[in-house]
Amino acid sequence: MDKTEFKFRREELMDIMGKGSIAILSAAPMQIRSHDVHYPYRQDSNFYYLTAFPEPDALAVFIPEREQGQYIIFCRENDPYEENWHGKRAGLEGACEIYGADDAFPITDIDDIVPGLMESCKSLYYPMGYYPDFDDQIMGWMNQLRRRARSGIVAPTEMVALDQILYEMRLFKSDAELEAMRTANDITIRAHKRAMRFCRPGLYEYELEAEIKHEFMRHGSRSPAFPPIVASGENACTFHYTKNSSVLKDGDLVLIDIGAEFDYYASDITRTFPINGHFTPAQKTIYELVLKTQQAAFKQIGPGKPWNAANEAAVEVVTQELIKLGLLVGKYETLLEEEAYKRFFVSRIGHWLGMDVHEPSNYKIDGLWRELEPGIVMTVEPGIYISASEDIAEEWWNIAIRIEDNVLITESGYDLLTSALPRTVAEIEAFMAGI
Ligand code: GLY
Ligand code: MN
Ligand code: MN
Repeated sequence: MDKTEFKFRREELMDIMGKGSIAILSAAPMQIRSHDVHYPYRQDSNFYYLTAFPEPDALAVFIPEREQGQYIIFCRENDPYEENWHGKRAGLEGACEIYGADDAFPITDIDDIVPGLMESCKSLYYPMGYYPDFDDQIMGWMNQLRRRARSGIVAPTEMVALDQILYEMRLFKSDAELEAMRTANDITIRAHKRAMRFCRPGLYEYELEAEIKHEFMRHGSRSPAFPPIVASGENACTFHYTKNSSVLKDGDLVLIDIGAEFDYYASDITRTFPINGHFTPAQKTIYELVLKTQQAAFKQIGPGKPWNAANEAAVEVVTQELIKLGLLVGKYETLLEEEAYKRFFVSRIGHWLGMDVHEPSNYKIDGLWRELEPGIVMTVEPGIYISASEDIAEEWWNIAIRIEDNVLITESGYDLLTSALPRTVAEIEAFMAGI
């Protein structure tokens, strides 16, 4: 992504903050996997959004209208020995030259420098409650300043949740962000297709996962945006099943919920298909119910439509259709009011999508569901999950189907980013048959 993209974001943030304020963000810490081995490092989304700086052990500080420089990075210094073991670092020079900081200091100097930067500021913006060590550091610096009150030092008096501001900015995607998201989607679609073609009874779920990860990686997605879900048979009743360790059985369905991450942007697509390539009549019935629900939801998606409208349309269709199948018994209005559908329609219709698979931007503003606006990307993912139970006819047992697509809200409606992936019963069966 172009450097100017990040510069615009920093400028926008500093415009929102105004003079007399300071923002401090921490890079994500490294996480230990086992003993002295770490998980692959992934930068904190908010930190990356503003800096593009990919290393751990770093702090970014923004002080609007500060004459000696508004944007400061604290990071690891160059160290030939360490770099020989673990790879190149940007160093202080790189922080300025590559990542556009006005000034850079060693991360080891934060306790000496940061309190002094905070001292003249009334408002302190920081993402609260994400990294305990960072929270402690902030409070430590605040207390350091408060202790010096008699020398005329005034600590910031206002704390602002920086994360909320950044989530709001992140909700609206620029052209560059959309390009990354389209690529993430394209890669995920390829992986789904590969899994559909490769699937057959007798394989393990993780063998499909292997095909998926291979396809991700070879197209430049170095990590999934979330652990792949390959859930066959009753496993698909577990919403976020990730064990992926069962054998695929003839006659069962497999639910695959995957998303490539590309250039820090996520995709999130689910398809459910028959392991042997042919839906049974019962599976087809539920599949078409879910598809119909998704179509009803799509009709409520576009600029100006409240976030909740798609979910409301979905639960109405689900309730009507479950009554027709005898899976819900009673009066439509009563069942709807009692939310009886929740036994089978477990989660809401979707979520925002972006740098995080569950992009944390708010869904309500001043107590009202927010209206969809151009530039927002969201998922539309109805699902019906039927566990085995005495009070349900056996033909429906362990049918669990989710269909998940990604849409971009546009000026005139929405753009279905995942349209290239087979979705209907006929499309899936034809694709699996190699047609
Ligand atoms: N893959 C998680 C979700 O669909 O929300
Ligand atoms: Mn999702
Ligand atoms: Mn998903």
